[in-house]
Parts: sequence; C-alpha cells; structure tokens
Amino acid sequence: MDNSKLKIKEAIFREEFDKLTEDMKEDMAGSNLLEEIDKYCIDNSIPNVDEQVGKLFSILVKTSGAKNILEIGTGVGYSTIWLALAARENKGKVLTIERNSNHASIAREYFKKANLKNINLLNGEALVLLQNIDEKFDFVFIDATKDEYIYYIKLISTKLVKPALIVADNAISHAIEVADYLDYVRTDENISSVLIPIRAGLELSYFN
Ligand SMILES: C[S@@+](CC[C@H](N)C(=O)[O-])C[C@H]1O[C@@H](n2cnc3c(N)ncnc32)[C@H](O)[C@@H]1O
Repeated sequence: MDNSKLKIKEAIFREEFDKLTEDMKEDMAGSNLLEEIDKYCIDNSIPNVDEQVGKLFSILVKTSGAKNILEIGTGVGYSTIWLALAARENKGKVLTIERNSNHASIAREYFKKANLKNINLLNGEALVLLQNIDEKFDFVFIDATKDEYIYYIKLISTKLVKPALIVADNAISHAIEVADYLDYVRTDENISSVLIPIRAGLELSYFN
C-alpha cells in the first residue's frame, strides 16, 4: 500500500477511535471530569494512567464484553472511571481496591461526580482483601505495589472467568520490580502475553 493510502487509513482509524471514547466522556455528569482528575493527579504527584491508556481500556472492555472488572490500585479513580464507563456499556461493574484512605475518599467523591453507580471501592490492603473476595473476574487491571504483582496474580488466577484479560501497568518503567510477574505471564503455556509500549508500558495477558 502506498504511503498516502496508509495515511488516510490511519486518519480514519484515529477519528473512529476518538469518537468512540468522546461519546463516553460526554455521557458523564460534568464532561471535563477526567481532565480535572488528571490535573489533580499531576498537581499532587499521584501517578495515573493517561488518556491513551484510558481509551485502550475502553476498547478492550467493550470489544471483550467484560462485565466483572477488578482493579488493584485505584489511586484517586482516574483509571477506574475509564473502566467503569466502558463496563457500563456492557452492563458490567468494577471492583477497585485502594489502601490509602485519603486516595480512597477522593476517588469516592469523583465517582459520585461522574454519576457512576457501577463501582465498588474497597479500602484496604490488596493482598488481604483478595483472599476474602468470592467474585470472579473477566478483566483485571493491576497498578499497585510493583513487587507485589506476582502475589496479586497468584491470588487472582483462581478468581478468573476464562478467557480473561489482565493488564499490568509499569511493565517498562518498573521492569525490574515486576520481572517475576512478567516471567510468569510470558512463560505459562495457558497465557498469551504481549507488551504494549505506551506510557509506562502495559503488559496485556490473555488467560485461557
Ligand atoms: C499508581 S497509583 C494508581 C493509579 C490509578 N490506577 C490510575 O491510573 O488512576 C497506585 C495506587 O495503588 C495503591 N496501592 C499500592 N499498593 C497497594 C496495596 N498493596 N493494596 C491496595 N492499594 C495499593 C496506592 O496507594 C496508590 O494509590
């Protein structure tokens, strides 16, 4: 394909990609909320994913039809809102875990502002809470203490409705800290895993 045709195809794809997620953002009470939270994170040095990652979550959740989403590491809820907006389209929900009480209460306020009723936030230690959760999940986002990823996945692997998608953040920025997690998902024969090199690096794994 010559270069100009490729450019036109890319432009069409980008336009559709942006439209898909713009519709979702506009649907929120106060359509600038995601930008507001992003700014809060920057101003208060709270690491969060960005809009590109949010859009990727939207696409993954909507195309996979995921209904039961687990997030480890809410922060103040930026990623959670992207996940919950997409889940809502599937009549699905998000369970999110955050150990920092201040982050948890700010996130709860943002969820109210976003008018999202499909989020359940548990305030506590993921490794403790995960042991007492009976729910099953078809989509998981891991974004908490980097050297605990391997322990999270071991607890989560018994709670998956397969096929399930697991996304782990910081696969590039904290490659050493998450090395045992990456080794696990990249070598197990029932897991297909790929590094998506956007932002801090997302490891996308398909558990079959
Ligand atoms: C990088 S921030 C999450 C950002 C959020 N996912 C986003 O993109 O908007 C990581 C969060 O994980 C929380 N966290 C770290 N270790 C945790 C643990 N063991 N259990 C629960 N929360 C944890 C931290 O308090 C922090 O708020």
